[in-house]
Amino acid sequence: MTLVRIDRDGDIAVVTVDNPPVNALGQALRQGLWDAVATLDADPAVRAVVLICAGRTFIAGADVTEFGRPPQPPHLPDLVDRIEGAARPWIAAIHGSALGGGFELAMGCRFRVALDTAQVGLPEVTLGIVPGASGTVRTPRLAGVAAAVDLVTTGRPVGAARALDLGLVDAVVTGDLRAQAVAFARAALTRPLPQPVSARPVTAPDPAWWEDRRKAIAKRARGEVAPLRALDCLRAAAERPFAQAMAQERATFLDLRGSDQAAALRHIFFAERAAPRPAHLAGIDPLPLRRAAVIGGGTMGAGIVAALRDAGLPVVLIERDEAAVARGLDNLRAIFDGAVRRGRLTEPQAADRLAGVTAGCDHALLADSDLVIEAVFEDLGVKRAVFDRLGQVCRADAVLATNTSYLDPQLIARGLPDPARFIGLHFFSPANVMKLLEIVPTPDTAPAVLATGFALARSLGKIPVQAGICEGFIGNRILKRYRAEAEALLRQGVTVAAVDAAMRAHGLAMGPFEAQDLGGLDIAWLQREGARAAGQDVPETLGDILVRAGRKGQKTGGGWYDYAPGDRTPQPSAAVAALIAPQVAPAQDMPAEAIAARLVAAMADEGRAILAQGIARTPADIDLVEVHGYGYPRWRGGPMFETGLR
Ligand code: 3HC
Ligand code: NAI
Repeated sequence: MTLVRIDRDGDIAVVTVDNPPVNALGQALRQGLWDAVATLDADPAVRAVVLICAGRTFIAGADVTEFGRPPQPPHLPDLVDRIEGAARPWIAAIHGSALGGGFELAMGCRFRVALDTAQVGLPEVTLGIVPGASGTVRTPRLAGVAAAVDLVTTGRPVGAARALDLGLVDAVVTGDLRAQAVAFARAALTRPLPQPVSARPVTAPDPAWWEDRRKAIAKRARGEVAPLRALDCLRAAAERPFAQAMAQERATFLDLRGSDQAAALRHIFFAERAAPRPAHLAGIDPLPLRRAAVIGGGTMGAGIVAALRDAGLPVVLIERDEAAVARGLDNLRAIFDGAVRRGRLTEPQAADRLAGVTAGCDHALLADSDLVIEAVFEDLGVKRAVFDRLGQVCRADAVLATNTSYLDPQLIARGLPDPARFIGLHFFSPANVMKLLEIVPTPDTAPAVLATGFALARSLGKIPVQAGICEGFIGNRILKRYRAEAEALLRQGVTVAAVDAAMRAHGLAMGPFEAQDLGGLDIAWLQREGARAAGQDVPETLGDILVRAGRKGQKTGGGWYDYAPGDRTPQPSAAVAALIAPQVAPAQDMPAEAIAARLVAAMADEGRAILAQGIARTPADIDLVEVHGYGYPRWRGGPMFETGLR
């Protein structure tokens, strides 16, 4: 296949890159472009060159699949220099995404023209590396140091309009990109050419500015190294000559490329891309999803409605009675108001989101729904009654789903006229924010219904993971084991604060005990009590002792920690120490790394059991559950990857 085509529009050459799916810059493409520069440099009839891409996007970056192997020439920084030094000016014509090496190549061009729908960015830090082909060195010369620091250390792309404001692109166009870029090239040739980007000046901020940035980035990075190493490169770019800064960037890139963090982040990158389209569902068409419905407008129901509306689906919301309908709509309004406050939605967008919801208690509203998701109380009787009604009122081909956390979906489905269209869709709270969706088929679920669960995840922008049936599915089952192990450490004499600090140092936003205080200790306690009432042997936990003493978490002013009124800062609690003292060994110091290793090993061990029982399909799926459902640090790759199971 020809990865690089050259054709002409009069005296303008057009170089088209065609390397599906995302025009990644593998060795063959780099070579193809290298040769194209030589060909066009040798052609006196050519006055300028437009670099454009076929398919859905401009060059989306280096080929990440090559990162596990030694780099092969021509190296990307050399290619960028070669394009910049070409005999005729090159103009990048950008559609889709110009990311990483793709954007670096565009910066080697004399001009950049972007479609209004395009985005540009340097996402390398999200892969545990820094830009390796002048991203840290050319970007400050185009957009200034502050904007470059923002782009490179967050990895977040910017849209075309913002890119124009920042000076990252020279023109934003609509319509026929190729024609517009050729016209731009012709117009540019009538004026003196600007300096190549590498020759442009850069203004260095003072040392205090760099120190401030370093502190802010270190806080955000929580142990991730690439953003700080990127900052070092950017500082070199501002303070040293171009060639020296390039040498530092390249050395940093090659060093990080082989790091554990980069390997972990690549693992998550590919797992995330594989998740939405699992191989075992290839060729199975999902059912159409045009209209959705949610039963129950509480915490989860309202969040699920918001997620469905964000994806543009019209939604019916059913509650128990008119008062509950009003409460459900209030919950929904609160979500959209919050999005407006945070600048994620405009007022008219929020109004439109709400206007697309039909709320009521009449089940006849469900007659035309393609998908109904139940999110009522976690009570088998209540759920069974709901599905009895759904079986009567919904279309025979509608997919019926439960959001249960712990109940056996097979018991919920029992009695349905057609169990083949029933499935578990386990969202995580807040459902409109959390990326994870556990998809739980029963043995009766039809393949097309399972495929519909994955199609739903794709349209909601969620990461789907298929889970088998067991208590807690994948995520909550591992969470239970993790908490039990954390309590085992307390029983050994490690303090609550030491356990939490160890997990924060490991990269989680919170430790297991402070997280329980935030969510409430009573939820898991009620579940344990339920199991005990049903005759199961559930040993007493330390958490049970706290709940019985009225310590349910922040909402009761205390849980594992004490809280001063109006202050969410956890304070070590003498009362807790006294309550659990009879169960706890004399205080012992354990290094933070050892605490974290114990807890991670417990999670991974549960993960292995889950795999052995076929509850999860792959170790990578378990890692995705932890990263997207429970805040496990991406740069550690998840507990399975971290403990060597890949
Ligand atoms: N290298 C190799 N494969 C890549 C890739 C890359 N940079 N980017 C995407 N792919 C693959 C995906 O794995 C997927 O493969 P599959 O079809 O076999 O599962 C396929 O391309 C399509 O990817 P998406 O499903 O993500 O496609 P979307 O259309 O949803 O998104 C995109 C397109 C926005 C370009 C998105 O793929 C993306 O963000 N890619 C990563 C971009 C990136 O991180 N670039 C920086 C690379 S590092 C670098 O350039 C270093 C340099 O500084 C030297
Ligand atoms: P909630 O108590 O906030 O909301 C339940 C809602 O269901 C209430 O608004 C109630 O009025 C309504 N409801 C009850 N019976 C109904 C009926 N017959 N018809 C219509 N509406 C009815 O509970 P929450 O937290 O939203 O949980 C709902 C489900 O989601 C449960 O199964 C829970 O296990 C599960 N879940 C909860 C998560 C969480 O973090 N809260 C996370 C994932 C799943």
